[in-house]
Amino acid sequence: MSTGLPGFFEGTEMPTAGWWEALWPDPVGVLVAVGMNPGMEVIDLCSGDGWFTLQIAKIARHVVAVDIDRNLLEVARHRLTEANAVNCDFVEGHAYDLAALARHPADFVFMANAFHGVPDRPRLARAVSAALQPAGRFAIVNWHQRPRHETTVLGEPRGPKTELRLSPEQTIASVGAGGLTLSALVELPPYHYGAVFQRPRA
Ligand SMILES: C[S@@+](CC[C@H](N)C(=O)[O-])C[C@H]1O[C@@H](n2cnc3c(N)ncnc32)[C@H](O)[C@@H]1O
Repeated sequence: MSTGLPGFFEGTEMPTAGWWEALWPDPVGVLVAVGMNPGMEVIDLCSGDGWFTLQIAKIARHVVAVDIDRNLLEVARHRLTEANAVNCDFVEGHAYDLAALARHPADFVFMANAFHGVPDRPRLARAVSAALQPAGRFAIVNWHQRPRHETTVLGEPRGPKTELRLSPEQTIASVGAGGLTLSALVELPPYHYGAVFQRPRA
């Protein structure tokens, strides 16, 4: 499946409705596990239909949802409007252009279920670094590098194809090459891990 959007990251289509909610019944727990705190200025990078964005808006001072697909941004906008969340902006664009898209430096960039498809991962890390405050953090939530047939949800294999999946070590190496330092690595059962990085202070 492909969206046909230029620059779209491979294997990052938003799933068909139903199983995402079953896989992520506790999105707040994920945000807390990767270190998101109240009062932060947050960017939800590759925000999709806003499943995490809404929960970020409940924790953060303000969140900017960034996605290349304007239709998904509209779904997210609708989700947050329905929930009376008013501390969110929605920005269409390519993740590599993050600093220009977000306008204000962020305390925290959250990126779930999209990093595996980024062709130039150090470039993405540099783009995130440029969008962060000094000592700001970048949390990546990735599928574990397990065969796709093993990661079933509601009775069917789910997630990106096996060849696209990244180990924590691969993720850490590619983000490190972009200038960010690992600050935490957490398990997010059943099939994910979170790698949290920090921008240097100076
Ligand atoms: C699998 S979805 C995950 C959505 C959300 N992060 C979540 O976990 O619920 C990945 C998202 O990445 C977006 N995306 C793909 N390529 C992108 C790019 N180059 N720049 C920004 N967003 C992109 C897609 O439009 C899609 O909404």
